Amino acid sequence: MTSLSALYADLSGYYDRFCLDVDYAAQCDFANRVARTFGHSAGHAYLDLACGTGQHLAHMAARGYAGTGLDNSQAMLDQAALRCPDATWLCCDLAGFDTPGRFDLITCFLYSIHYSHPRAALQETLRRAFAALRPGGVLLFDLVDKAGIGTRDAVSHLTEGDARFTFRSGWRYAGSGDTLDLHVTIERSDSAGLQRWEDRHAMTAIGIEEARAALQTEGFEVTVLERDFAGLREWEGESFNVMMVAVKPA
Ligand SMILES: C[S@@+](CC[C@H](N)C(=O)[O-])C[C@H]1O[C@@H](n2cnc3c(N)ncnc32)[C@H](O)[C@@H]1O
Repeated sequence: MTSLSALYADLSGYYDRFCLDVDYAAQCDFANRVARTFGHSAGHAYLDLACGTGQHLAHMAARGYAGTGLDNSQAMLDQAALRCPDATWLCCDLAGFDTPGRFDLITCFLYSIHYSHPRAALQETLRRAFAALRPGGVLLFDLVDKAGIGTRDAVSHLTEGDARFTFRSGWRYAGSGDTLDLHVTIERSDSAGLQRWEDRHAMTAIGIEEARAALQTEGFEVTVLERDFAGLREWEGESFNVMMVAVKPA
């Protein structure tokens, strides 16, 4: 069993290939649209929380944003720095940054906000995001309601030279409480044998309305959108996967 940071350190060089299905350009078009529609601060100072290998930072730079990436894995930040040589980096926990009044837009994608665990740490992350925004700035993140946690694992495969990787991940939720268990298993096999990484990691379980209230507690004005990157559709109250748009009042 590896720790989460050891897992990301070992796999940072492969992470992008596991994410080939993620349409980062569409997510960044969406983030830019959200910032222009809901934000009032007009600037382009951008912070990506749990930035991983910097894909959002690169796409946002192409849209005129000056980026800062935060991640608690130095190995992931090293990959991100290769991709985004002009960006600024914060190697710390999601609940550990202290950059008051600097940003017009803060994002956190691929449900990474749930890594802020336990629930009090998530609240602290929201508090610090509020402080880090300029008046009129926007915090945007995707969220899955704890009532909608599926039971199926996502599985993907990757071949790299003579090595074959299998990546399996899924969340488990006991049905009560504020902890989700993330199960990740990665196997690498080649002629020399089999290597296996396994992680069981606690993440925060939260409901959409609970997240709205948590944001409002910090002073944000909140809109919930469908997680549909093609447009800007207000949440209809049915789906469990949403985009939380939180604006710091101007
Ligand atoms: C699933 S990846 C998502 C990366 C990126 N947002 C994307 O969409 O490709 C999650 C990232 O969160 C980072 N991470 C996990 N827990 C964290 C924490 N408590 N504080 C800061 N970063 C964290 C990991 O190192 C990893 O880079």
